[in-house]
Amino acid sequence: MRVPHDDGPQGPKKPPRAPRAAKAGAVIAEPHRPDAKAARAVTTEPHRPDPKDSPERALVSGARQQGEAEVATIRPQRFAEYIGQAALKRKLEVFVRAAQGRNEPLDHTLLHGPPGLGKTTMAHILAHELGVKLHLTSGPAIEHKGILAGHLTALGARDVLFIDEIHRLSPTVEESLYSAMEDGRIDLPVGEGTRARTIGFELAPFTLVGATTRTALLSGPLRDRFQILEGIEFYGDDELAAIVLRTAGLLGFAISKEAALEIGQRSRGTPRIANRLTRRVRDFAQVAAGPRRIELRDTKQALHELGIDEAGLDALDRRMLTMIVENFRGGPVGVDALAASLGEPRDTLEGVVEPFLLQRGFLLRTHRGRLATAKAARHLNLELPAPGQGELEL
Ligand code: ADE
Repeated sequence: MRVPHDDGPQGPKKPPRAPRAAKAGAVIAEPHRPDAKAARAVTTEPHRPDPKDSPERALVSGARQQGEAEVATIRPQRFAEYIGQAALKRKLEVFVRAAQGRNEPLDHTLLHGPPGLGKTTMAHILAHELGVKLHLTSGPAIEHKGILAGHLTALGARDVLFIDEIHRLSPTVEESLYSAMEDGRIDLPVGEGTRARTIGFELAPFTLVGATTRTALLSGPLRDRFQILEGIEFYGDDELAAIVLRTAGLLGFAISKEAALEIGQRSRGTPRIANRLTRRVRDFAQVAAGPRRIELRDTKQALHELGIDEAGLDALDRRMLTMIVENFRGGPVGVDALAASLGEPRDTLEGVVEPFLLQRGFLLRTHRGRLATAKAARHLNLELPAPGQGELEL
């Protein structure tokens, strides 16, 4: 139940109604909660997000992310269905069980890591395991305090509000979130001129799950208000192969273990990419040979046609590394110069392309800029120029 406070000069005659749930970007996933009220306007069951509304679509740091929203049919709903991230899963399972044992909401949780590793999926699982509704939105979709208030006041007791790309909240919206996270209330200006006042709305106890690909861009005060902070790591090839096999099973086609491993090895440590490649490999195999089990040779042929090499690098990865080697003598080169030369947004390079190249040792990031490694030059069959005098100190 929400109890309005009036901090303004004239108290309201009637208790003010909570603002209506903001529809912009709001997607609500319904839990299996016996006492859930049916009154929510934008609730669907089962949840099939419109890709246009999906916060994953709003993560517009590069063309690669568009159209990659996973359909609800293959998204794991429970910890038991989730492959990989064993340590993270174990911790979150404990936190969920402990919160449930105390009849409390889960503490506010920040998930960080490169795109496509399952932060949104984990939010679905947390809500499902807690038996509450998941409300999904994203930092850029919350354009002003009113939208945030709409989301917050639509929350039922212990619901999960998932804010993707939380580092992209505006400072004023972020500030309003502080009181919601800390005190369970939000203050809203009402009226204009001499009648202007602030009304405080008490919120149902809830859990904020924030996701960010860029922890460095998160303000200190916001980070400090999360009690659980966890990173999601790149997946191993075997884990990705297991995800490919699971996805193929759910989508109703057969694929050999060797083929699944081949896709896993070329998926940049990222389930979203593994699932996307699985669908595309299926397309190639189906057109070439009709509906039969997908074999290793089908997979290699399809991945070759898709321009994904043995290390999982795609055309943009190779273009970026080639550019550093050939145009910038191997580096160091600043990310802005690189972005301008490649005609790609800096955000795409930093948030999408670089994390995997860094992790696999194709790229180094120094205070003077990016350097292509000897491994990168070997992989691309290029000659790495000898470092000049200045570079020797790096
Ligand atoms: N689909 C995407 N990520 C997954 C994961 N970690 N486990 C199972 N299926 C997935």
